[in-house]
Amino acid sequence: MAKVVTLAHYYTHPEIQQMADKVGDSLELSLYAKECGADVIVFAGVRFMAETAKILNPGAKVILPDSGSTCSLVTQTDVVALKKWREEHPDYVHVSYINSSAEHKALSDWICTSRNVDDLIASIYAEGKKVIFSPDRNMGAYLNFQYGYDMPLWSAVCEVHDKFNQAALDEAFAAVSTAKYLIAHPESPLPVLQQADYVGSTSGMLNWIKTFDKEPDATIFVATEDGILYNMHQARPDLNIQQAPIYAGCQCNSCPYMKMNTIAAVERAQRGEGGIEIDYLTPELMDAARLPIERMLDFSKRYYQ
Ligand code: 13P
Ligand code: SF4
Repeated sequence: MAKVVTLAHYYTHPEIQQMADKVGDSLELSLYAKECGADVIVFAGVRFMAETAKILNPGAKVILPDSGSTCSLVTQTDVVALKKWREEHPDYVHVSYINSSAEHKALSDWICTSRNVDDLIASIYAEGKKVIFSPDRNMGAYLNFQYGYDMPLWSAVCEVHDKFNQAALDEAFAAVSTAKYLIAHPESPLPVLQQADYVGSTSGMLNWIKTFDKEPDATIFVATEDGILYNMHQARPDLNIQQAPIYAGCQCNSCPYMKMNTIAAVERAQRGEGGIEIDYLTPELMDAARLPIERMLDFSKRYYQ
């Protein structure tokens, strides 16, 4: 019998997370996809994640439940223009966020995720090298601000996180009389990140919530996609955790692509009756894209263990 493994990102609906063998952020899911020994991987996430799983585990059949599950960081990046931009910076190391197509990864020296991007870029600068960063402009702007880098940046954004804004946050903060905190994903705009008490990946934010030990009645605003609020409320039902607003009265910011993973779509994919198989990447493209991903995985193992 074929071993079918279902993976779900934190941004999928709670009921999808409950159907999964493994729930995690993009780094955790990539590692799991590589090592889980599955014959079939049903990836309840978005297309670049399923492609990454295929690249890391080419022997497995990888199914994305809905072919429309893309990501604005991918669709806003023209790979021909990216290649030209890369060639205009021959002396730079090209670090790309994992939210990118296989063709994009193949034009990169390193892949990073929001979990390891700070340490990975710091280690490249420590070797005296210069970095260009793509595709997320907000993440790059934050890194330049936070560490005083001068990285040339590609200009794409996450259409979900880019909606968080200081005006809506100020209004929400003013309406709260308890202590207040803001935690944010680095895909959010710089003014939001500058205001945050913690900036990190989805797993990083979840850990911050799990270990929160300050005012028990504090209001914690979370500037990221709404799926992970489920995991946060489960981990700490005692805390007042709210999604950051994007305009007055709207705690409603959610990724349309992640939410295409419906129960029916995931079940069809698990039965082998639906979804799209990631079978269109050539071996040459997968080899070229795997190199910078493997570099990142090696770095993460060396750095974090
Ligand atoms: P993570 O790397 O934190 O899982 O984020 C992926 C993503 O798509 C964020 O919008
Ligand atoms: Fe892409 Fe944003 Fe959706 Fe993440 S939340 S998958 S970055 S569109």
